Amino acid sequence: MKTFLADTEATLRLGITLGESLTPGTVILLEGDLGAGKTTLVQGIGKGLGITEPIVSPTFTLINEYTEGRLPLYHLDLYRLEPQEVAALNLEIYWEGVEVIPGIVAVEWAERLPYKPDSYLSVSLTYEHGGTRQVELIPFNCAISKVIAAI
Ligand SMILES: Nc1ncnc2c1ncn2[C@@H]1O[C@H](COP(=O)(O)OP(=O)(O)OP(=O)(O)O)[C@@H](O)[C@H]1O
Ligand SMILES: [Mg+2]
Repeated sequence: MKTFLADTEATLRLGITLGESLTPGTVILLEGDLGAGKTTLVQGIGKGLGITEPIVSPTFTLINEYTEGRLPLYHLDLYRLEPQEVAALNLEIYWEGVEVIPGIVAVEWAERLPYKPDSYLSVSLTYEHGGTRQVELIPFNCAISKVIAAI
């Protein structure tokens, strides 16, 4: 599914819809250029989950965990890492939900992942002329097509 996001509000609204409807264990792999709107979308997801704490980019902390909402939100940003460094982080614990409470995992700069989960929602943000954005959502092996169809 591809759609235009006219402004920051539109990106937030898409995130809110996702945050309200996604099920535990959903992994969202976000791709897109610097400043394309990845963090903004995750801020919307946080709102949709009922998180009131401000969601800030985890560029330096690698991962921020928010447990206040309907489901935990695990927000990762791999921008500063090389794929071999990412491999050493054992991120699978987040999507396998073995050592952590299953929640929503949102990964910025997912291009840096040397391996991907079995199922995930791919979200690609691109710049359009005039500064708006386009977003493409592709579910891989996960049952969220209905959520996407409703957007
Ligand atoms: N649809 C949109 N149209 C125009 N501007 C937008 C849109 N969505 C978000 N923005 C704005 O783009 C800027 C960058 O957004 P954001 O920080 O979410 O990008 P990012 O992809 O996370 O960047 P980075 O690559 O640095 O992590 C913000 O000022 C945000 O308000
Ligand atoms: Mg960001």
